[in-house]
This record gives sequence, C-alpha cells and structure tokens, in this order.
Amino acid sequence: MIRSMAYLGLNTPAVTEWRTFGSDILGLHAIDDGADGAARFRMDDADCRLWVHPGIHNDIAYIGWSLSDEREALELKAVIEAGGAKLHRADADEAAARRVRGYYWFTDPMGFRHELSWGQYVSPGTFVPGRPMSGFRTGDQGMGHIVLLVPDLRAADLFYREVMGFNASDCIMDGTRELLFYHCNGRHHSLAIGSPAPGMRGAHHLMLEVNSLHDVGIAVDRCVETDVPVSKSIGCHTNDRMVSAYLYSPSVLRIEYGYGGIAIDDLWEPKTYSRTSLWGHKELRPDLPPAMIVGN
Ligand SMILES: [Fe+2]
Repeated sequence: MIRSMAYLGLNTPAVTEWRTFGSDILGLHAIDDGADGAARFRMDDADCRLWVHPGIHNDIAYIGWSLSDEREALELKAVIEAGGAKLHRADADEAAARRVRGYYWFTDPMGFRHELSWGQYVSPGTFVPGRPMSGFRTGDQGMGHIVLLVPDLRAADLFYREVMGFNASDCIMDGTRELLFYHCNGRHHSLAIGSPAPGMRGAHHLMLEVNSLHDVGIAVDRCVETDVPVSKSIGCHTNDRMVSAYLYSPSVLRIEYGYGGIAIDDLWEPKTYSRTSLWGHKELRPDLPPAMIVGN
C-alpha cells in the first residue's frame, strides 16, 4: 500500500536555473550535487526530496512513493506484475543514491517511471530553507502532489486505482476538461491526472505546501522581483481548498505553491466539481507553453 509521495526526479536542460529557482524562489534547501550533476533539494527532515537531473528534454524522470517496508512493496509488486508490468529491484548503490533503504521500479502504461520505496533516510533538525520561510507541510502527507497528463484518461484512471491502489478523491468537470484526483493519506490528493489531448504525455505541476500563507505571497514577490513568470495568480481550489499560486519553473513544469489544503479521512466521499477554483488562479501568462509536454 502506497503511504505517501516520497520524492520526485526531473530531467531538464535547465539545471543551473533550477538551482536559483529552487532555493531563492521556493525556499528549498539545496545540498551537494548528485553524481551526474543533478541539483538536489531537501524540504524537511528527509535527506532529499527533489532531484533535478541534467537532460536533453524536460521530463518526469521518476516518481518515488513511500511504503512501510519491503514486504509491503512486494505485495504491491505482485499486484502490478499481475497487471502486466515488470518490476525491478534497485541495487544497494541505486537505493542509497535515492536516500532510501530500497525500492522497486517500473514504467507504467502511460510512460511514467514509478519507484516503490521504503526506509527513506532522515536527518532530523537539519533542514535549512533557501530563504527565510516557515517550512513545508510534509510528514504523513508526503512531499506534495503531482499532476500528470496522460494519453488515455480512462486507462490511466483504472491503472492508478485498480493496480496501484490509489483512492479516488474527486473529479472536476470544467467545460470539456476532466481532472481526476487520488489520495493515499490525509492529503486530499497526492496524484491527479488530466488528458488534454489523446496520446499526449506530460505533467502540469508539482504542488508543494508551505506552513504559512505569507510564504505564498513572498514567493510571488520574489518571482516579480527576479522576472520569474507567475503563470496563475493566487487563488483557492474548489476541491482541496488550497490557497496557491502557480510559479513557472525553468523546466516548464509549474510549481503550485500553496497553503491551507484540507485534510481528509477514511470517511471521505468523492465529489464532482464544476470548476477548478473558487476564486483567483487567473491565467497570467497565456504566451508560455501550457504544460510540460514530453510526447509518448
Ligand atoms: Fe494542484
């Protein structure tokens, strides 16, 4: 059973720009580079949460999920392999590079690499934000949420629920747009999917939640001061009630920088909303690419 989003890896030609964006705009804690020159960032006690690897194209390199232990990972491995995918066990060096005790990895039918990890390394009390800020809301709710663009919404919905075991949170039907949201802990969603065009694969945003609304405003100020595009204005979502702004990262992937998302429990009943936001989230930069599209 997947417990939370543990970590994320990106590929991008813009690693240098990410170093400044990650620490100065987002307030992440930059640590020493990975062996391949990846920029690496912490956001709490975990030794590392975000890898930004050098790459020719912008892409999601891997999504790391946290499970309790290897026994749990093996149970999920069996279910996924029954569905047709082949899982591989990381060797000791590969696991250490991700700062976990171990993981199994596979590529899902949509083309995304997932890593089922356990034993994430932590160093309590050593997180130092890249700029003064209140810190990030993680813990049992994990790193945040990721919104993927999938080639086939119905196939992806079935895979993420029936095979990987995510629970449906709700659905937004906004005009012709359909967005599906999934949880695996008290965070309203750790994963969401949309399918803007058949066959298209990519990602829209990574959400990071901070402990103070002021930090959202300060991040927007820093963007304005340093010419980093704010792609959507501050607003409040209908479903998770997150008050957030969308910041345009150097790899096109937006960072939803938010505060105040609701927590849900086992009694949560999926709902259907007719729009994404109660207020705000106005598109400010229609001139920029609408999402990180990587093809298939
Ligand atoms: Fe979001």
